[in-house]
Amino acid sequence: MTSLHSKIAAALKSRENRLIRRRLSDPDADAGLVDFHTNDYLSLSHSDELRRLFLQKLQSAPEVLGSGGSRLLVNGHGHTALEARLAAFFDSPTALVFNSGLDANVGFFSCVPQPGDVVVFDEYIHASVHDGVRASRAKDAQFAFEHNSVSSLGELLLRLLNERPGLRTGENSAFVAVESLYSMDGTIAPLTEIVELAETLFPRGNCHVVVDEAHATGVYGPQGRGMVAMLGLERRVLARLHTFGKALAATGAVILTDEPIRDYLLNYARSLIYTTSLNHANIVAIDCSFDFLENGTAARLSAKLLDLSIRFIDALQDLVERDGIPPTLLSLPPHLTTVSLGRKRATPIVPVFTSRPRPLSAHLRAKGMNARPITWPTVPKGLDRVRVCLHSGNTSKEIDSLAREMAEWAKGEMAASAAKAGDALRLQSKL
Ligand SMILES: Cc1ncc(COP(=O)(O)O)c(C=O)c1O
Repeated sequence: MTSLHSKIAAALKSRENRLIRRRLSDPDADAGLVDFHTNDYLSLSHSDELRRLFLQKLQSAPEVLGSGGSRLLVNGHGHTALEARLAAFFDSPTALVFNSGLDANVGFFSCVPQPGDVVVFDEYIHASVHDGVRASRAKDAQFAFEHNSVSSLGELLLRLLNERPGLRTGENSAFVAVESLYSMDGTIAPLTEIVELAETLFPRGNCHVVVDEAHATGVYGPQGRGMVAMLGLERRVLARLHTFGKALAATGAVILTDEPIRDYLLNYARSLIYTTSLNHANIVAIDCSFDFLENGTAARLSAKLLDLSIRFIDALQDLVERDGIPPTLLSLPPHLTTVSLGRKRATPIVPVFTSRPRPLSAHLRAKGMNARPITWPTVPKGLDRVRVCLHSGNTSKEIDSLAREMAEWAKGEMAASAAKAGDALRLQSKL
């Protein structure tokens, strides 16, 4: 074994010992399980109607295979037409398609912040933003604020304004990176408050909010246009990211922004410049998904999805209360159980906190359901969970049995620890 291979083996062994080694799942083992883990929120990847539309459009598409190279080398008609459609649909001055959301975030954050600028992000921001900022000229000026906390963001921005005259004079810029719907927690960002704060603290307009709508695309907002559109903030954020690989059953992503930033990305975003652009068939697939957003299908599916979300949250909460299940075994975060503005916040992503995510996930699997355990380092220590992703295609029966089986598992755990405690007591009394 070379020294390189022994170092690599040791690192993997260490992950193994800490129960955090990542592995690909066996595709056969997942077959037939009810899907509570993919990002296919609208179940479009299984839609016969969408499949038919896609195959029909493919038949008549002038180009289907490959794309010939980087966008800068070969600018396909399909790519250009899609961007025009997306700019109009999302009410944005321009749109620029990337091969993935990861490429888009890396591309944007690695080149747009200039020397002297600062990047401020929610502590739960996606890894791709970190990767971009790390490669940027603002890599030594990046700061995290507490998740979804407008006061923490405000304190941080005020401190930066105090410390950095360039931010006060407007010579330098601050970027605030947030997601609209957070992928691990199903929390929703207070976007309006964040935008208002940025505008108030930076009256010269040099604080730029950038919103990643990866998980909100197709699910929230008019025709699935996302939360920025839902809140009417289109002209008050610098850029939005929408991805096509989650609810839209395709691949790729788009950055919606103004003309100068788009032009700059075309010139400086390495993850756009030095890669082959999406193949034509994928452009056709994206186009078909947008047909479904525009014709109201997605809105109908999303309404069903959000109803299922409330059903699951209510069912699980009732069982937890009825059976006196301790929060260490099963608990839902307060943002899902408290009623705000007369209604609960429905979300396709429901984290069920538990100190034993792997046994819970294994129990569900044995019952024919696939909901994955998520542990550190993907989420902070102490916040291990089984993340439930819900889909329009799930049935009410599946939702009810998911909640029921989670509670059954917890009751089994409670009984096992009560039996253990009883054994220990009996042993003590014999001594
Ligand atoms: C919030 C967020 N942004 C960006 C991405 C990357 O998107 P893509 O899967 O298209 O690379 C993801 C995917 O996991 C995500 O969750």
